Amino acid sequence: MFVLPKGSTIQFINKEIRLKRRWLHEMLEECGPCAKIANYNEKPVAQILYYPEEADITKAFRRENVLVIDCIYNPTPEAQKLGIGTRLLYSVIEDARQRKTYLGNKPCKFILAKAFNTGELLPMPEFYKKKGFLPTPEGNQLYLPIEGSYEPVTPVREYEPLLEDKDKAVIFYGPICQFSYQFAKRIEEIIREVGPNIKVEMINEWEKPEEAIKRKNWWLIVNAKPIHTFFMETEKFKEEIKQAVS
Ligand SMILES: CC(C)(COP(=O)(O)OP(=O)(O)OC[C@H]1O[C@@H](n2cnc3c(N)ncnc32)[C@H](O)[C@@H]1OP(=O)(O)O)[C@@H](O)C(=O)NCCC(=O)NCCS
Repeated sequence: MFVLPKGSTIQFINKEIRLKRRWLHEMLEECGPCAKIANYNEKPVAQILYYPEEADITKAFRRENVLVIDCIYNPTPEAQKLGIGTRLLYSVIEDARQRKTYLGNKPCKFILAKAFNTGELLPMPEFYKKKGFLPTPEGNQLYLPIEGSYEPVTPVREYEPLLEDKDKAVIFYGPICQFSYQFAKRIEEIIREVGPNIKVEMINEWEKPEEAIKRKNWWLIVNAKPIHTFFMETEKFKEEIKQAVS
């Protein structure tokens, strides 16, 4: 079950709504629609979010004419297993085949699905595989050819320690996922608990993409060391932070 982080407050949620609203407006102006919402019994029940990879200014490496599906989510019990998720996905695939506006009416080579497992409902990797998506050769995502074939990602070099990252923690968050800011705040809380003297900097990667690119898109750097453990594995995460600050 996707549980809101400890310390999650209405203030964080409001900030996330503001961030996401601004991002959606920007994307709408630059690329056209980038989300679809499904209604059931006249209520919004599920959504799919997507954008051209080229529009992701936070990434050091971007491919042309590739559509990224960031996430799909149907959290409404009475609307699950009714074909709604499938219809949302097929509608985006159909748009890509018809060269709709968000790719500037250009051919879409392939759709890339960010397929991560949140532990809730049917995991995205299983869903996309059911719908014909294939594993990328890099093995960490899934894709569906549309008018081209898969193009591998040029590997981004490893994070190299920056002098400015010494004795501080740099936490990245973004506007696309509504939990990102809350997660970043929870990470900040844990870091302050483990290393009370360490300075913490929180960076919105869409506002300062150069900061994210400079750190090779690593989500958390502590004392000039990239952190590998996901913060929800709390004890292991604390241990890695402890070692990084010592
Ligand atoms: C994947 C998801 C969108 C599917 O939504 P849905 O509206 O129930 O999808 P559909 O009704 O179109 O079902 C698609 C297929 O998945 C199957 N399915 C759906 N939910 C399932 C479940 N909980 N367990 C097993 N199979 C399931 C359906 O039976 C159907 O199978 P079929 O294609 O062989 O007929 C939904 O399960 C979900 O939101 N999963 C969590 C994804 C997530 O973590 N998102 C958060 C991003 S931050």
